[in-house]
Amino acid sequence: MANQDEQFKKVISHAKEYGFVFPSSEIYDGLSAVYDYAQNGVELKNNIRQYWWKAMVQLHENIVGIDAAIFMHPTAWKASGHVDAFNDPLIDNKDSKKRYRADVLVEDYVAKIEAKIEKEVAKAEKRFGEAFDKEQFVSTNPRVLEYKATADAILKRLARSLENENLADVKALIEELEIADPETGSKNWTDVKQFNLMFGTKLGASAESAMDLYLRPETAQGIFVNFLNVQKTGRMKIPFGIAQTGKAFRNEIVARQFIFRMREFEQMEMQFFIKPGTQKEWYEEWKQTRLKWHLSLGMGADNYRFHDHEKLAHYADAAADIEFKFPFGFKELEGIHSRTDFDLGNHEKFSGRKLQYFDPEENKSYVPYVVETSIGLDRMFLAVLSNSLQEEELENNTSRTVLKLPAVLAPVKAAVLPLVKKDGLPEVARNIVDDLKWSFNVDYDEKDAVGRRYRRQDAVGTPFCITVDHDTLKDDTVTIRHRDTMEQKRVKINELKDIIQQEVDMRTWLMKM
Ligand code: GAP
Repeated sequence: MANQDEQFKKVISHAKEYGFVFPSSEIYDGLSAVYDYAQNGVELKNNIRQYWWKAMVQLHENIVGIDAAIFMHPTAWKASGHVDAFNDPLIDNKDSKKRYRADVLVEDYVAKIEAKIEKEVAKAEKRFGEAFDKEQFVSTNPRVLEYKATADAILKRLARSLENENLADVKALIEELEIADPETGSKNWTDVKQFNLMFGTKLGASAESAMDLYLRPETAQGIFVNFLNVQKTGRMKIPFGIAQTGKAFRNEIVARQFIFRMREFEQMEMQFFIKPGTQKEWYEEWKQTRLKWHLSLGMGADNYRFHDHEKLAHYADAAADIEFKFPFGFKELEGIHSRTDFDLGNHEKFSGRKLQYFDPEENKSYVPYVVETSIGLDRMFLAVLSNSLQEEELENNTSRTVLKLPAVLAPVKAAVLPLVKKDGLPEVARNIVDDLKWSFNVDYDEKDAVGRRYRRQDAVGTPFCITVDHDTLKDDTVTIRHRDTMEQKRVKINELKDIIQQEVDMRTWLMKM
């Protein structure tokens, strides 16, 4: 755990030191769970968004994108169920006065049991070596089975209590498990209460005429209310999808873990409209498609797992998370939800407008069912950043900090470095930048010794450094250094574009899907 904490602290301080993420309004001591993306962070974030958009919208003939407003008619949130049901169960500690999500306290308790299972597996792996069969071990070892049974029973009871709004039982569970305030150790808890997560605001100039509005807690509703507009104007045939990326806001009870849980964040969502009765197939299909998207980035298959929901959101008949191994353990990165006709059906009821599709094959109209894929852009950013940050021991007893970002997502693709600031080298380097900048985001750096410049570029994840030296003046060649291998090669200036393109081209990466 201490190791994990250390690693996570390193990620947060690296993000600040190298211009990825700053606390919001830091000169006023920041604002809890609100962050600003800095010069490198915004490039990385844009690249993740584009990687998603390309895969989800532009490579699918039957998916189109929109950009709906953050403000929506307040009745939309009544229809969506968010006014009545978008709650988290909160609990206060009477001694420390700290507030927690009751379900998260229980889940953290279960995570500790899961960590014990991992420990048993690691021990056995060491003992049996090559002959170790993990699957067989976890399905037969009595101690592991006991841990699993306990964890399952706790999660089942939590899901049932939340489903039935039995908050007294959630409190009873916390007391029976003797869960203590993680910061102070006190077990003196209040009752569990529901807390609505939507932020309210007002539209209008005078207090009397102002209309109560909400900041959207998910981007999905902007898609649902535009379903028919898009279907008609785009002549879309079912099955088809509508995607969008944009800000969402939630008044999270416990906003911790840096950009993992924020109060203002960004989602990338896609609603896929389908024939009722086909939702199971599409749900499975989208689970696999989305996992393949993640795997295409090469961040390690072992870092992902599915987690099927026991407690379903108010709109879903099936739901799973794609969890990622963050520095603080496996946590939700993306959700795939079978939302039935809940949203469109309710918008029909509340608006009085028909939101139906005429199916020419069936010769009838119906309210389509929906399978949704929903990923937090900031969470994806954290997954990429934390997975890429590495401390490497080098042969000469030194070490380097390197951000091994998937090259397609790297904020800067190449840095051009004149060996010295004289003899015409800066001019040649600038000419290279002027040429490459039309194709890639490139950097020019002439300050400090070239070794230090390499380290600076390693730390922001730049896949290539291009060094211009005195030989360049004679034969138009430069040294190109690869971030991950640190290998250096002499190449012609006119080959640079192709070499970089090969590694950073979205096509190459997405073709792995
Ligand atoms: N439209 C469905 C929906 O919003 P969700 O599971 O509540 O479902 C989807 O959210 C994704 O949005 C999550 O998997 C997560 O990546 C991201 N997300 C949710 N709340 C967040 C928060 N407070 N901060 C950062 N990301 C968040």
